[in-house]
Amino acid sequence: MLRKFWVDRWKRNQIGFHQVNYNVWLTKYWVNLGLASSSPVFVPMCGKSLDMRWLEQQGHLIRGIDLAGIALEAYFEEGNEDFNRIAQGSLTRYEGLNSVLFCGDFFELTAVDLDGVVAAFDRGALVALAPGHRGNYVDHMLRVLPEGSQILLVTLEYDQHLVSEPPFSVLPEEVETLYESRCSVEVLESAPTDLVPPHFQAHGVESAVECVYRIIKER
Ligand SMILES: C[S@@+](CC[C@H](N)C(=O)[O-])C[C@H]1O[C@@H](n2cnc3c(N)ncnc32)[C@H](O)[C@@H]1O
Repeated sequence: MLRKFWVDRWKRNQIGFHQVNYNVWLTKYWVNLGLASSSPVFVPMCGKSLDMRWLEQQGHLIRGIDLAGIALEAYFEEGNEDFNRIAQGSLTRYEGLNSVLFCGDFFELTAVDLDGVVAAFDRGALVALAPGHRGNYVDHMLRVLPEGSQILLVTLEYDQHLVSEPPFSVLPEEVETLYESRCSVEVLESAPTDLVPPHFQAHGVESAVECVYRIIKER
């Protein structure tokens, strides 16, 4: 997807993907990762997700990144939290009390920016990317995440022939192919969901499944 596509969606407030509740898979399975509560964690393509608030409440320090400064400002403003904005090369750091959210392209992020991070929560990032971009996304993710890091990944599965826009359908075989060379991949749960954009139904999407993975970067 072009950067402009996402920035325009934020400008027009077309953010149907934003959830007003904490993600159910995050609150159910984060504990399975067995992390120290004060450890830094990463939320790729974070938007203004309240999942970052939940992670903060568990004691984590947050690193996030999104293309849209509007989203990051909204995260702090809607949380009544002061923040500082600091230029850092091609990125801008938005620094809150327990978080550093980078504004810019995920692919510009470096391992230094994620120093100390022990886990990532990917909801709405991998599935936001068209098929041809997912390999680069995973390569970069594994380049910048420290060894031993874990990823709690949530994907969506539906008949991709009916719609060709995000959130894309990403099947277990693809997740395995994307991550298997450097990671262990475990399916934690797979369950029907009605969390698909309403207009998908008009295109004939009658059912969808969410799948939750625990991925460990082993090398
Ligand atoms: C489907 S939304 C999910 C947002 C968030 N994870 C959530 O669950 O609400 C995808 C987000 O990815 C951001 N995004 C897309 N491409 C990006 C890129 N190359 N670098 C950083 N952010 C990107 C968009 O601005 C958008 O906020």
